[in-house]
Formats: sequence, C-alpha cells, structure tokens
Amino acid sequence: MSDTTSLNQAFFNKLAPDYDRRYQATVNRLQDELRTRATSLGLQQGGRLLDYACGTGLVTKALGDQLSQCVGVDISESMVQQYNAKAKADGHSDKRIAYVGNLISPEDPSPAAFSSPNFFNFDMAGVGLGFHHVDDCDLAAKRLAERLRPGGAFFIVDFISHAPVEYHSASRGVRHHGFTEDQVKTIFDGAGVGKNFHYEEMSSDISFDHAHGEGKHMVRRVFFASGEKEGISAQI
Ligand SMILES: C[S@@+](CC[C@H](N)C(=O)[O-])C[C@H]1O[C@@H](n2cnc3c(N)ncnc32)[C@H](O)[C@@H]1O
Repeated sequence: MSDTTSLNQAFFNKLAPDYDRRYQATVNRLQDELRTRATSLGLQQGGRLLDYACGTGLVTKALGDQLSQCVGVDISESMVQQYNAKAKADGHSDKRIAYVGNLISPEDPSPAAFSSPNFFNFDMAGVGLGFHHVDDCDLAAKRLAERLRPGGAFFIVDFISHAPVEYHSASRGVRHHGFTEDQVKTIFDGAGVGKNFHYEEMSSDISFDHAHGEGKHMVRRVFFASGEKEGISAQI
C-alpha cells in the first residue's frame, strides 16, 4: 500500500463515525447540488452507479433514488461501515452496498476481489471529493473508466485550485490542492471519458467548519465535471 493510501486510510478511519454529523450542512448542500445536476452528470433512470471513494455515501444518497444499484468502494473500513449502516437504516441495503478496496493501485491493476461481473459495466462511475487524495489521477480515471459500459458516464466532484495547506499533505493524504478545468479535461480525455465533457463550478463556496482546528474552517469552491466513455451508447 502506498504512503498516500495508508495516510488516507488512517485519517478517514478516525473521522468516519463523525463525518456526517460534523459536516452535516455541507454534506446536505452537496447532495442537493448533485441532485440538481443529475442529468448533466449523465444519470439515467434505473442505471447502476460505481461510487468510488464513497465515504459514508454522500453521492449514493444524492443520486441513489433514481438508480437500480449503487456499489461503493473505499479504502477506509470505517467509512464503508458507515455507508452500509446508512444504506440499511434507509431501507436500501438490497441495492446499496459498499466494499473495502482499492481499484486504483498501480501495483494491482486487476484486484481479484473486484473481478466479478457485478463490478463492471456500470452506467455511471463517479468520485466525490476523492481525487485530491490520490497520487495518480490519470491512472485513477483510467481504472474507473474500465469499469464503465461503453457510453457510460464518468464524473468527478472536487475542489477548484486553492492555496496549499502543507500539513494536509503530511497528515491527511492530500495530494492535489484542487484542480483547474484544463487539468480535469486532460484527465477525462486521457481516460477516454472526455466525450461531451461538461464542467461547472458552484456559485459560492462551501465550508468544512472547524476542519483545520477549532474556529478554523476549510473553505472551498467545488466543481462538477462529467463526460462519456467512448463507444456505442447502450440503452438501459
Ligand atoms: C473527503 S472523503 C469523501 C467521501 C465521499 N465521497 C463524500 O463525498 O463525502 C474522501 C474519501 O476518499 C477515500 N479514499 C482516499 N484514497 C482512496 C483510494 N485510493 N481508494 C479508495 N478510496 C480512497 C477516503 O477513505 C475517504 O472516504
């Protein structure tokens, strides 16, 4: 496991039980923003979603009511526990389930635990606030694109470029201080999911209150980017 992955695993395992409560207002707002953008993100009614770096299930919860199945994957066991507990509490454990795993490791291009058909041919694959935590965004996008059916939708929700916070890199596994639109477009094109590329920024900032310590809020502007995998579109 890379240093970045270990850091993220440790950090999010610790944060998981408090994540939703601590950032409730921001989580709710992001879920509303995702719902509003469901169509531009490529959602098709009744489709299957791969919610990568799923955390407690923000993306699944936002879009899941319109989908037939949501599969979460995350390297943090505690985040996955939270996701599955929420799916159960919401009465959706039959169609929303998360697994501990890493689909983007350079050392393991085809993880055996994720080789069954249930982990392929998704109509939609997306990452909510996870890309700034990975070493190699190009590789991550390629690996996730492989899990999509031809014509499937790929999306990234993350932060626009911001001033670096150095201790984040050391303690929280942050590898990118946000992204520019050009960087995101390059990632999409390189992974073969740049068709009909769409990029939009939220009209105002969000705040992760007290994320940098008591009274020190992490204020960020979020973008939503989506594109389509090359190939013949299949109807659901
Ligand atoms: C800021 S949280 C976002 C969680 C959720 N998507 C959301 O929007 O609330 C980032 C998540 O990325 C996960 N993560 C970081 N690196 C990962 C990797 N290589 N593979 C899978 N998950 C990863 C962390 O464990 C954490 O749950």
